[in-house]
Amino acid sequence: MAKLLVTGGAGFIGSNFVHYVTSHTDHHVTVLDSLTYAGNRASLEGIPESRLRFVQGDITDATLVDELTADADAVVHYAAESHNDNSLHDPRPFLDTNIIGTYTLLEAARRHETRFHHISTDEVYGDLELDDPERFTESTPYNPSSPYSSTKAGSDLLVRAWVRSFGVQATISNCSNNYGPHQHVEKFIPRQITNVIRGVRPKLYGTGENVRDWIHADDHSSAVLTILDRGVIGETYLIGADGEKNNREVVELILELMGQDAGAYDLVTDRPGHDLRYAIDSTKLRTELGWAPSYGRFEDGLAATIEWYRAHEDWWAPSKDGVEAFYASKGQ
Ligand code: NAD
Ligand code: TYD
Repeated sequence: MAKLLVTGGAGFIGSNFVHYVTSHTDHHVTVLDSLTYAGNRASLEGIPESRLRFVQGDITDATLVDELTADADAVVHYAAESHNDNSLHDPRPFLDTNIIGTYTLLEAARRHETRFHHISTDEVYGDLELDDPERFTESTPYNPSSPYSSTKAGSDLLVRAWVRSFGVQATISNCSNNYGPHQHVEKFIPRQITNVIRGVRPKLYGTGENVRDWIHADDHSSAVLTILDRGVIGETYLIGADGEKNNREVVELILELMGQDAGAYDLVTDRPGHDLRYAIDSTKLRTELGWAPSYGRFEDGLAATIEWYRAHEDWWAPSKDGVEAFYASKGQ
């Protein structure tokens, strides 16, 4: 049994990871989460108290981070400001959490010689052309577009420097777009599902041709556990499940699965600097560590996600009006 410190464990992917770990291993988890607008304690409901300790606190709080890291066998670092649209509106919290927060955790891992796994995104690589046959690999040069992706890129580079300069026992993973339960309604898929539940037409940025490479959050979790178990210190692993779809296809599928006309969406103002396409080649993770995704058809995972939002309006309703007011102010 290992003791894991999971930062950002009340957020979307972090909470899915905590559920996954507590049901697939005997590890004990301490969650450190400051419960920003994106964190929700209710996302951890159902996990036995004997398996989980929840600490509300900030990853930039060096004293608290030091104390919790000293008691952990490994740190799995999910906490971040995570939404591109917010980063275009107010970049500062992205610098504080994604850069200073990661620095604070790395310093504690260095002091206590604690195994560290850093969760990052494929957005650090910038974007690809729609007709480019290439996909991102671990050797693609960094070329981030937004304040969000540039602070994530910066945090990845800090991790690499702390491995090389100070011998921190760290690995990094860069994953593609996740979907599943507990995702904030500001994000693409939950926004459209909850719009349809409320009788509002889905909103596609620009022409809807931008491509994202979708993976279920549980497959992300199994990949992270694999890297924690067998990953080579200092290495980066790309996580993806060959799930490329353009945004228009995703919205049409949501509408069909929810019994609506597939064309019942609106095209709205595009995101400034909107990355065209992300696509992951996860050959290294599959061949070197033997990982494979277990979710089959995107349609099935999406249908289950729709059912989750239908059944958990109490979870998302408190955030919905504020999010829509923010988007409306931007013509989105
Ligand atoms: P999220 O916004 O849903 O959750 C972030 C969590 O971090 C929240 O619970 C929030 O309260 C917490 N947090 C934020 N600032 C904090 C601070 N200063 N101290 C402590 N806690 C803080 O994000 P997510 O979508 O679950 O993303 C989690 C991680 O995965 C991020 O590092 C993100 O870059 C990465 N990632 C996300 C995706 C995706 O599709 N969402 C894809 C690849 C990688
Ligand atoms: P998002 O979930 O914000 O993730 P990311 O920007 O990290 O990829 O958006 C996914 C895609 O959906 C992206 O191309 C922007 C687009 N999008 C819309 O078309 N409409 C929306 O209402 C939102 C929130 C996003």
